[in-house]
Amino acid sequence: MSSVLAPRDYRWPAEGPNRAPYWVFEDPSIYAREQQQVFRGRNWHFVGLEAEVPEPGSFKCTQIGDTPVIVARDEGGAINVLVNRCAHRGNLVCMDTHGKTSEFYCVYHAWIYNLKGDLTAAAFRRGIRGEGGLPADFRLEDHGLQRLACTSFCGLVFASFAHDLPPIEEWLGEVGDGIRRVLKRPLKILGYDTQRFSANWKNYHENPRDSLHANILHTFYATFGLSRQGQDSALVIDRSGLHQYFYTKVGTDKPSSEYKETASTLRSNNENFKLEDPSILKWVDEFGDGINIQILSLYPTFVLHQISNSIAVRQLVPTGPGSTDLNWIYLGFADDTPEMTDLRLFQTNLAGSAGLVSMEDTAVCQMVRRGTAGSADETSFIEMGGKDLTSGGSTKLSEKGLRNFWHAYRTQMGL
Ligand code: FES
Ligand SMILES: [Fe+2]
Repeated sequence: MSSVLAPRDYRWPAEGPNRAPYWVFEDPSIYAREQQQVFRGRNWHFVGLEAEVPEPGSFKCTQIGDTPVIVARDEGGAINVLVNRCAHRGNLVCMDTHGKTSEFYCVYHAWIYNLKGDLTAAAFRRGIRGEGGLPADFRLEDHGLQRLACTSFCGLVFASFAHDLPPIEEWLGEVGDGIRRVLKRPLKILGYDTQRFSANWKNYHENPRDSLHANILHTFYATFGLSRQGQDSALVIDRSGLHQYFYTKVGTDKPSSEYKETASTLRSNNENFKLEDPSILKWVDEFGDGINIQILSLYPTFVLHQISNSIAVRQLVPTGPGSTDLNWIYLGFADDTPEMTDLRLFQTNLAGSAGLVSMEDTAVCQMVRRGTAGSADETSFIEMGGKDLTSGGSTKLSEKGLRNFWHAYRTQMGL
């Protein structure tokens, strides 16, 4: 006897983008549709840094959704983004995470590709002694690796399966300014790590767009004054609603009766606590604008953070409806002093994947995942700062960024 599951009603809740139905986080058919509509769809995806492929022959491997890709700099200095899938029978043509090479050699049957993805050789293509081999009409130029559209912005490399997207500056809109503000100078890579967590990639995508939680979940921020709701801050969303950043200026706390009233209910309000060693709070205002925290999210899978002097990019790679890899690259600038490099590395204890603050983000995503298990037909409630895409002004005390995300996602997914 076979069991038949009733097909799910994929209609979005009537309220609109101020609700997210929980089936969207767990349904395998939604995951499959995302691969097509979002990851292989009409978006620019962050795939790496120019600094990761500094010379001709340098390459790195990563993924866009499920699809493995190679980012390679060719002999002419151009960056190519190629699907890591042999045109013969689909084997990976590159198995290293990064390195230097002059070609990609498929170990299965020895088809060889250059750094632009052109097929340059296919073993035994002419057969042996008149037998075997590829047909007479076989042409090497018809069987290269799949090439993606590729572009760069402030040292970040983006790629897309769509070859007719608007230029990256246009796609980023006003949020491009938040990237320009931080990534001003040639970059130096300080380190990598990957966090593997048990939640859907959208659970995490919501998190750095959620300016509301920053001063509540992250008790360290509020307790030691790095970020409090009463400080000067703002949320910037680009015209398309796809991208956003928010920022805070430390030391600008203004008294208000509402803040006092709420603060007394917050468990993050531990103003009497003191650090025995306050060195983790040291901050150099290197951009000269008083902003000590800026969290920037690009649809669908990219985050750039500046938290004190910690600078890092994060890339979401979904590995199933309930599991995700978050790839971190910790950054400095090529002209940093050794002291500044030490400070940035030290602050990964605060803002790195296992930092006092940032580890709480993946932890809470996993807790949400557990909390919503078995509740596919229920929804979240996203009305802080208003119910629609535009209300909420520029306050951080808002879920406007989430409503814009869900609106963009629904549109791309046809939900
Ligand atoms: S799969 Fe690559 S050469 Fe056969
Ligand atoms: Fe957070």
